[in-house]
Amino acid sequence: MSESIEHIVVTGGAGFIGSNFVHWVLDNKPAVRVSVLDALTYAGNLENLEGCDPDRMTFVHGDICDADLVDSLFAEADACVHFAAESHNDNSISDPSPFLKTNVYGTFTLLEAARKHGMRFHHVSTDEVYGDLALDDPARFTEDSPYKPSSPYSSSKAASDHLVRAWHRTYGVPITISNCSNNYGPRQHIEKFIPRQVTNIISGLRPKLYGDGKNIRDWIHTEDHSSAVWTILEKGRLGETYLIGADGERSNIDVLQAILTAMGSNPDDFDWVKDRPGHDRRYAIDSSKLRKELGWEPLHTSFSEGLAETIEWYRNNPAWWADAKRVTEDKYKALGQ
Ligand code: NAD
Ligand code: TYD
Repeated sequence: MSESIEHIVVTGGAGFIGSNFVHWVLDNKPAVRVSVLDALTYAGNLENLEGCDPDRMTFVHGDICDADLVDSLFAEADACVHFAAESHNDNSISDPSPFLKTNVYGTFTLLEAARKHGMRFHHVSTDEVYGDLALDDPARFTEDSPYKPSSPYSSSKAASDHLVRAWHRTYGVPITISNCSNNYGPRQHIEKFIPRQVTNIISGLRPKLYGDGKNIRDWIHTEDHSSAVWTILEKGRLGETYLIGADGERSNIDVLQAILTAMGSNPDDFDWVKDRPGHDRRYAIDSSKLRKELGWEPLHTSFSEGLAETIEWYRNNPAWWADAKRVTEDKYKALGQ
């Protein structure tokens, strides 16, 4: 199918995972052009697209809820890869409204344009739609796990997944969906766990751990997420869902102490803070469908190496995060976190 994919629209391409995907496509798929559609919310940053070849990447500043704009972009392209979202659980608990607008109504707007243009549509989603697993449960999420989202964020992503499947079944829109585990890597907003702790340590602030710190996340490097999304776009069966994960289960306290150690600090030099309401206990992905059916494998198999490179990126790019740091820490302080 890749032969026919020459021009893709990437929504949310100025955010963390979207911009890493755009760079990955430009580096690995020389025949493909990219139009990025991004509203540049607090989480979007044009600097994330620096270095992209202007002959192959066009940036369009706009909202995925703008039906006319989406229609005009889809008229020119072969496929859409949809990353744009409000993406942070803590923000969704403080104010769910933009999550409903962008994640649900925005996805609906894109699907209507995909229906009109018969557009190949890949929807990027999260494993959080399946709720959580117990710490002592040997099970992992599969494509057959029941939907059981806990937060305004994960329930809005679950709603968007259901819309995408309905537009396939009812209107025949050629879709695929991926549900990925927690990403790490360069250019992640410093509100998220790993970059928050790294930039705290660089700034002389103490890292903050929620609850008892035993919650487990299944970490994947964002470049492996990019290669998986491209594999599904190219080879995935239409109407299907694929879980993306790289066998990276780790407790939050283990990740935090690995960061502290890698940065030369005492591993106990952090604050315990108030837990997140409804905090999911454990996420774990069984990605055998993607691996067996489409032959995908992750390349970043050493978490400690990926983490060291990520820490280095934040050390080398203080101007990228300094302004956001003040605003973000003020918000957390008000929440007692
Ligand atoms: P992010 O918050 O870093 O970036 C989101 C981007 O979307 C930003 O550039 C923002 O400006 C843009 N955006 C927001 N609202 C928009 C709108 N209405 N119109 C156009 N653009 C808009 O998010 P991320 O962490 O890169 O996540 C990207 C996608 O991957 C999301 O769909 C998220 O649900 C999914 N996902 C994230 C993770 C993770 O670990 N971060 C894991 C699995 C899936
Ligand atoms: P986060 O990066 O917000 O991702 P998600 O909620 O999608 O898993 O958080 C990852 C884990 O880290 C989650 O269990 C909450 C926890 N956490 C902290 O302990 N301290 C923090 O400062 C943050 C932001 C998160």
